[in-house]
Parts: sequence; C-alpha cells; structure tokens
Amino acid sequence: MEKMPYQPDLDRTTASAASATVATTTDWRAGLPVMAGSNFTLRELRAADAASLLAMLTTEEVSRFISPPPTTLDGFERFIAWTHRERLTGNYICFGIVPEGMEHAVGLFQLRSLEPGFASCEWGFAMGSSFWGTGVFAEGARLVVNFAVDVVGAQRLEARAAVANGRGNGALRKIGAVQEGVLRRSFLRDGQYHDQVLWSILAEDWRLQRMGVAAIVH
Ligand SMILES: CC(C)(COP(=O)(O)OP(=O)(O)OC[C@H]1O[C@@H](n2cnc3c(N)ncnc32)[C@H](O)[C@@H]1OP(=O)(O)O)[C@@H](O)C(=O)NCCC(=O)NCCS
Repeated sequence: MEKMPYQPDLDRTTASAASATVATTTDWRAGLPVMAGSNFTLRELRAADAASLLAMLTTEEVSRFISPPPTTLDGFERFIAWTHRERLTGNYICFGIVPEGMEHAVGLFQLRSLEPGFASCEWGFAMGSSFWGTGVFAEGARLVVNFAVDVVGAQRLEARAAVANGRGNGALRKIGAVQEGVLRRSFLRDGQYHDQVLWSILAEDWRLQRMGVAAIVH
C-alpha cells in the first residue's frame, strides 16, 4: 500500500480520546487477535508504539517509496488512534510487528477494504530496515494473508509497489503474489510521479499454495 489511507491533515481527533484499550475477541472489528510467528508477534498497535514507529518508519530507506508517514510523536499517536477507529468501522486493519524480546512495534501490516464487506482489499507493509532480510516479513505476511482470507473473508488482496521499489516487489513476488500489470504514473511522491506494479493474491490460489499445490495463475 504505497498510499497510506491515513491522512494526518484530515484527522482532527485528539489521540488520547480515541486510543481506547482494545479487547481481543473473535470479532476482529472489536479487537485484533495476537498472532505469533517464530520470533515475533503481530498485534494491534498501542499508543506506546508511537516512538518506536517514528524511529523505524521515517528513515529515508523505509519511507522513500511509501506515502510520507507522520513526522512527529504526536502524529504517530494520532495515526495509532485512527487505526483503532477505522478497525471499529470494519474498513481497515493494522497489525504491528513486535520482534521477540522487544516491547514495541517496529513495523506494520495494513489492510484496507476496497468494497463494503472486505471481499477485495489492498494491503501494504513497512518495517524498520534493521529487520529487513530477517524472515519476519515473509512469515508475517503469510499470517496476515491467512487472517485476511480465513477470518476477514477477503477473496482478493491487492498490493501496489513502485516499479523502482526492488525490495517491495521482491517481497511480494516471493510470497506468491501475481503481477497483474503496471499502473502508469499512479503514485505521487515528492513532486514526482512513479509507475506502480499491481500485485494480487486470490483466496482460492492462496489456499492451494498453502496446501503445497501450485497456484493457478488466471
Ligand atoms: C517491504 C518490506 C517490508 C519487505 O521486508 P524485507 O525483510 O525487506 O523482505 P525480504 O528480505 O523478506 O524479501 C525481499 C526480497 O526482495 C529481494 N530484493 C531485494 N532487492 C531487490 C531488488 N532491487 N530487485 C528485486 N528483488 C530484490 C530480496 O533478495 C528478497 O528476496 P529473497 O529473500 O528471495 O532473497 C521492507 O523491505 C520494507 O519495509 N520496505 C520499505 C517500505 C516499503 O517499501 N513497503 C512496500 C510497500 S508495497
């Protein structure tokens, strides 16, 4: 998700008023589950993650191909409160990535519904560069896609990655996303338009891939 759906300029809600404690229930709209990887967990963002996310996601190498993240602690606190409100509406899900032995999130996976009911959605991800190449992405992505398909009911997950974002495209390719085409001049960053690769994962292919059967490319 190169274009983060969160728009700081439009958010006038105070962070403290909205960052309610999140319950973990089977209804993801009421609270996200904690999902365990081999050396990390995925969980709902907490207000206390703001400083870590600010440090991890605002570096040049992480942010150069995504919409500009918030630039202040307050901005990230507002973003985190917004993720909770949006999840309650049933339109959006954000998992924080917390490596083993750490308390705070160092990255995130986002899912945004593209139609009522979440049958098709767009997803995106970003992580502090010290965690790149560690295997956390691929394992975390599989947990998130499983969650989207099995719990949320997504039939199609789309991702967009700037053509110049070699790592983003490599990451999508390696988890089995299918390249559908190039969206020309579809992403504006720092006054410059970028072409983006459109990637998709279909629930039916994902289930086959999980069972070890070669996915059918339509
Ligand atoms: C996207 C992101 C979460 C992926 O996590 P990661 O740990 O870097 O991903 P991985 O290392 O598991 O996978 C990346 C793959 O791309 C490959 N790759 C790296 N540079 C590449 C390039 N220039 N061209 C093609 N492939 C490349 C890597 O070799 C790796 O594949 P391999 O494991 O088979 O060797 C992380 O890079 C990130 O946060 N990037 C900044 C934010 C961003 O661009 N998000 C994507 C928005 S769609």
